[in-house]
Amino acid sequence: MAEKNIILTGDRPTGRLHLGHYVGSLMRRVELQDSGTFDEINILIADDQALTDNADNPGKIRDNIVNVVLDYLSVGIDPSKTTICVQSALPALHALTFYYLNLVTTSRLSRNPTVKAEIQMRGFAEEGLPAGFFTYPVSQAADITAFDANVVPVGEDQLPMIEQTREIVEKFNRTYGETLVVPHAMIPENETQRRLPGVDGKAKMSKSLGNCIYLSDDAKTVRKQVNGKMFTDPLHLRIEDPGHIEGNVVFTYLDALCTDGHFAEYLPDYANLDEMKEHYRRGGLGDGTCKKFLINVLEEALRPIRAERAKWEADIGSVYDILREGTARAVETTNATLARVRKAMRIDYFEDRSIVKEWEALLRQAKQ
Ligand code: TRP
Repeated sequence: MAEKNIILTGDRPTGRLHLGHYVGSLMRRVELQDSGTFDEINILIADDQALTDNADNPGKIRDNIVNVVLDYLSVGIDPSKTTICVQSALPALHALTFYYLNLVTTSRLSRNPTVKAEIQMRGFAEEGLPAGFFTYPVSQAADITAFDANVVPVGEDQLPMIEQTREIVEKFNRTYGETLVVPHAMIPENETQRRLPGVDGKAKMSKSLGNCIYLSDDAKTVRKQVNGKMFTDPLHLRIEDPGHIEGNVVFTYLDALCTDGHFAEYLPDYANLDEMKEHYRRGGLGDGTCKKFLINVLEEALRPIRAERAKWEADIGSVYDILREGTARAVETTNATLARVRKAMRIDYFEDRSIVKEWEALLRQAKQ
């Protein structure tokens, strides 16, 4: 196997992508794409995985495929550099999943902390646990290995999936000979990128909590989320009161997004974020000023994304073609891996007729 640098990452198409996705993964993906250090970059729209807990609502998945692709294209994922593909259209992934299921135990699967938490959250503990959902980490191992990915950029919550994949790869290679690439997770660099809180400061952004800023939100909606909902410092009652930075969502978002250039442009009283924080701590800097600055910073990030999105929205036919062509490429890639896997497992019966000779010899031997 040639040593290549290959990225695979993916998302479940269950909703539009938001600022948490942007800060936690999309910005990084664009950087990696443009770094030129990777031989291949693949992004998988994991619709099959999304179905493992949305079996009764395939329409939701179908509708969100286009939303997610639009989000990718608007942030700068470039289809001439990055392959965007749809999981359900890659039959090799289904076959690989079925073989890998034999290499894991149910007790190992039930120890996966992310799946455990998701089972609680979705009420599967009471309602009954779909076997497909329980085993989705195995299907994710199929995703990763099918692309021969050695680098998998993901959120921290996905570390158990990469760990599970490595175990499957090691077991496979031990059992059937060196065939699969051992993947490594690449997680966001700092705490803010790892878990950008929702505007309410309570938890990560989530649709059901209404605490998101979506990449597709218009300027008015963004302003409303910041001015109307954003959690600051409940002890900072009057402007002169000393303020707290920790847990103050305005500053968390500024940590994630603002540069010294933003100060020069919108808030020249300070040279940088440290000076601004210092003033806030001391007292005398009001939340209104901070929020106004944040809105400017957010708008500077979101404006070009919105403009790019509008272009693609006016040409959904091209979006469809990008997805179709990316998926066709991925069919080739993943089929090649499946062929290698079948050969290693010696279940490649119909590759050529050599097995006829093998069977004949076997029968001759049995008669002797
Ligand atoms: N489980 C991932 C998530 O929920 C999505 C995903 C599916 C994925 N297959 C993948 C991520 C392969 C990385 C690699 O975000």
